[in-house]
Amino acid sequence: MKALTWHGKHDIRCESVPDPQIEEGRDAIIKVTACAICGSDLHLYNGIMPDMHSGDIMGHETMGEVVEVGKDNKKLKVGDRVVVPFTISCGECFFCKRGFFSGCERSNPDPSKAKKLWGSSPAGLFGYTHLLGGYSGGQAEYLRVPYADVGPIKVPEGLTDEQVLFLSDIFPTGYMAADFCNIQPGDTIAIWGCGPVGQMAIKSAFILGAERVIAIDTVPERLALAERSGAITLDYMDKDIYDRIMELTNGRGADACIDAVGTESDPSASWDARLDRIKVATFMGTDRPHVLRQAIHCCRNFGTVSIVGVYGGFLDKIPMGSAINRGLTFKMAQTPVQHYLPILMDRIQNGEIDPSFIITHTGSLEDGPDLYKTFLEKKDGCIKVVLKP
Ligand SMILES: NC(=O)c1ccc[n+]([C@@H]2O[C@H](COP(=O)([O-])OP(=O)(O)OC[C@H]3O[C@@H](n4cnc5c(N)ncnc54)[C@H](O)[C@@H]3O)[C@@H](O)[C@H]2O)c1
Ligand SMILES: [Zn+2]
Ligand SMILES: [Zn+2]
Repeated sequence: MKALTWHGKHDIRCESVPDPQIEEGRDAIIKVTACAICGSDLHLYNGIMPDMHSGDIMGHETMGEVVEVGKDNKKLKVGDRVVVPFTISCGECFFCKRGFFSGCERSNPDPSKAKKLWGSSPAGLFGYTHLLGGYSGGQAEYLRVPYADVGPIKVPEGLTDEQVLFLSDIFPTGYMAADFCNIQPGDTIAIWGCGPVGQMAIKSAFILGAERVIAIDTVPERLALAERSGAITLDYMDKDIYDRIMELTNGRGADACIDAVGTESDPSASWDARLDRIKVATFMGTDRPHVLRQAIHCCRNFGTVSIVGVYGGFLDKIPMGSAINRGLTFKMAQTPVQHYLPILMDRIQNGEIDPSFIITHTGSLEDGPDLYKTFLEKKDGCIKVVLKP
C-alpha cells in the first residue's frame, strides 16, 4: 500500500510499504477514506520529538471502512464506517475504566523510555514515535487498529467524512480545552493559537456558554476565521497581549486561558520566546513555553489555565510564583478522545457544529509531502489539510 513515511527533519515521503495485518484478536484493519495532518505532526516534521525512526508511517487523524476484524472483536464488522481516535486504549485497565483513556497503561508495548523521561508512560498513539508505542499511523491506504473494540466510533448515516474526521483528535481536543475552563455565564476565555485546535476551542467555548472569547495569533486568515466564529482577535505582533487582555477585562484578567500553541511558539513573539529558541538550539532547554508564561500572567486570580498545546520535557522559567499566590488551577492532557466521542458526535448530528469549516486544503497521499510544507509555512491560506488516499 501507499503511505506517508518519516525520514528526518522536513523529509516526508509517499512510499510503498507492506500492508498491515491483523496481529491480535481485538484488532481491525481500516481502509482509510480520509486522514488529516495535525499540528502535532509538525513537531515530528520539525524533528523536535525524540525517537522517530526512518520509514515510520505518519498520521493519527484517520477514518475509513472496516475491511477485516480479528476473531475476538465483537463490536465491529466488515463494512462499518468508523472514526479512529488518536489514542490507543485497552478499555480495561485502571485508567481506561475511569475514562482516562489517554493514560491507558497497556497500549504502550515498551513504556520504559517514556518512564525514564516522564515518570510513567501515557497511552500509545498512532504514528507518534517509539516513545509512545511505535505504532504505524493512518496517513496511509490501510491502518491496523489495535483494541478496535474500544476506540473507533461508528458514523451515523448522512454525515460526510469531512464532518466527522476531526472527532479523531482536534475537535475533542479543542472541546476538552474549553471543558477544562469550567465556563460560567459571563466568562471571558482567552485562547492562544488560532490553528485548528484553537479554532475548535473557540467554537467549543461558545457552545459551553462563554460570553466572550479573545483569540490570539498573528496569521491574518486564522484571525479572520476566529472572528467569524465570534471571537475578539488580537495580533501578538501588533499589540501587547497582557495590556490588551487587562483592558478588555477591567484590569482583572481572563476567567480562563487556553494554551493551544505548545512548544513551538513563534520565536519572534517576544524576548523570552527568542531566548527559549536559543536555549533549545544550544541544548540548554527542551521547550519554548512563552505562551504558557503569558497565559499564566493574563489569567485572573483563581482562574484556570488549560493546556492542550503539547510540551515535551522540562520547561524553564514558568511563573509558579504568580500561579500559587493567585490560586490558579492548571488542567492539561493528551485528550482522552473516547471519553468525548459520544457527546461530540451528538453535537455534530444535531447541527450545533460542523467541524469541516476549518478545511482549506484537500489532496491525495502523493500530495502529502508538499502539503506538509504548505501547512508548516502557513502558505496559501492553509489552516487544515485533509488527505483522501
Ligand atoms: N493535547 C492534545 O491531545 C493535542 C491534540 C492535538 C494537537 N495538540 C497540540 O495543539 C497545538 C496546536 O495544534 P494545531 O493543529 O492547532 O497547530 P498549528 O501549528 O496549526 O497552530 C498553532 C498556532 O499557534 C500560533 N502561534 C504561534 N506562536 C504564538 C504565540 N506566541 N501566541 C499566539 N499564537 C501563536 C501559530 O501562528 C499557529 O496558528 C500543538 O502543540 C499540537 O501538538 C494537542
Ligand atoms: Zn493531533
Ligand atoms: Zn487501558
